[in-house]
Amino acid sequence: MASYDVIVIGSGPGGYVAAIRAAQLGLKTACVEGRETLGGTCLNVGCIPSKALLHATHQLHEAEHNFAKMGLKGKAPSVDWEQMQAYKDDVIGQNTKGIEFLFKKNKIDWLKGWGTIPEAGKVKVGDETHEAKNIIIATGSDVAKLKGVEIDEEVVVSSTGALSLKKPPKKMVVIGAGVIGLEMGSVYARLGAEVTVVEFLDTITPTMDGEVQKAFQKLLKKQGLEFVLGAAVQSTEIKNGKARVAYKLRKDDSEHTLDADCVLVATGRVPYTDGLGLKDLGVQTTERGFIKTDDHWKTSVDGIYAIGDATEGPMLAHKAEDEGMAAAEVIASKHGHVNYGVIPSVIYTHPEVASVGKTEEELKKDGRSFKAGKFSFMGNGRAKANFAADGFVKILADKDTDRILGAHIIGPMAGDLIHEICVAMEFGAAAEDLALTCHAHPTYSEAVREAALACGDGPIHM
Ligand code: FAD
Ligand code: NAI
Repeated sequence: MASYDVIVIGSGPGGYVAAIRAAQLGLKTACVEGRETLGGTCLNVGCIPSKALLHATHQLHEAEHNFAKMGLKGKAPSVDWEQMQAYKDDVIGQNTKGIEFLFKKNKIDWLKGWGTIPEAGKVKVGDETHEAKNIIIATGSDVAKLKGVEIDEEVVVSSTGALSLKKPPKKMVVIGAGVIGLEMGSVYARLGAEVTVVEFLDTITPTMDGEVQKAFQKLLKKQGLEFVLGAAVQSTEIKNGKARVAYKLRKDDSEHTLDADCVLVATGRVPYTDGLGLKDLGVQTTERGFIKTDDHWKTSVDGIYAIGDATEGPMLAHKAEDEGMAAAEVIASKHGHVNYGVIPSVIYTHPEVASVGKTEEELKKDGRSFKAGKFSFMGNGRAKANFAADGFVKILADKDTDRILGAHIIGPMAGDLIHEICVAMEFGAAAEDLALTCHAHPTYSEAVREAALACGDGPIHM
């Protein structure tokens, strides 16, 4: 038995970041992980592998559609699926080994196996029970189940199966027009699949700014994705290696079916806390199974903290990381802090979609008076040169004070561009502060400045 200041359960972006920060702050730290490799959902079967496949297939798309226009002639590349999978696996390996290296560097013990908490102050892994002054639960999330739909991870798959298909399908049905559905749907559409996305609601990506939603759906349609909106999936049936999806249109209850080689179920994720023993410990959870915490990530039991996907809030790696850092700082008697009003979210399709803060719909609902400054990438020289002029930047600012309240970008490198607005929001900046900041030419970032100018006297290039 060993004794620690902190034991973190789970080594995803929440857990491994918490462990590293705790160790950096001089606390004796261990991290429990049951998977063969560190890094959690994000590094093993989430953010990292999906972005590798998005990158590879985007390069293919560029070669097929834009190379010849620039005078780069010749045969377009053909797809070697095994090699693409090997590239993706190599990227995963480099990242997960990187965390192992950081654990060694920071003298963090990796307790291999599945952890339980027999009582506050103790964590059991296998036959060994370790003492911990503080425990951080960072056990993440799992795929949400859908009634009538059985996932076999070959024909009917979750995101995990979709990352490792034996071969790209010819016909794919995606259930759920959320982040996973659209990212993975894009991957397979670029590889030549006919992709139909079936969504329960009447819009794609329901929490997104309405104007961006519409532009995004239009662009995805142009790329070949088909959408069936307002449709409730009833069941899937697998026969001879193919699947049939049955759904009802909500507007008239009419029944329809779609046949496919592969069905991706992407209807959300649920918190994962199995086997921890939360009930016996008295750790309170919400009705939907998220661990309840206070503003300092403390659960209802002294000495037990919880962070990341297992707790409420956006299920995003960077939200988990920020909470991991902050919880470790609180344990070390410092001032851990997360500003939940400024957490960006990004969809890594092409073009990318990024947002932070309030949407126009939310501001209207709140009755807040605001102005919207918008600038199209059509007016951005760099975007035009790079065949990336689809999309726009939209900044929402308070009508009276000009303070930035939210921003929504659909366009090239949107996921990177959003951060200057995040920093501005952290500093309580006005749109004019961005507008008065010199931006290098020619960059995509100039479109952000132009949108800020559009909140005032108007953009220059529009
Ligand atoms: P997780 O990463 O889920 O890690 C939890 C870890 O805890 C797991 O490794 C699990 O094995 C371990 N564990 C659980 N119980 C125990 C136990 N009892 N004992 C020991 N170990 C245990 N987010 C983004 O921000 N950007 C993206 O681009 C992005 N892409 C994604 C793509 C896909 C396909 C998916 C599925 C998710 C994606 N996400 C993305 C979401 C992101 O992966 C999660 O928000 C993030 O991983 C949550 O981190 P976490 O540390 O809370 O939990
Ligand atoms: P999601 O919550 O983004 O989208 C689920 C979609 O499925 C919604 O549009 C919802 O209306 C729809 N849906 C729900 N039930 C349905 C039904 N019965 N039939 C048809 N449609 C239905 O969830 P998703 O895409 O599974 O992703 C899970 C989590 O992973 C998200 O919270 C997301 O934050 C995270 N993630 C983040 C990424 C990123 O940051 N780029 C990438 C991938 C995942």
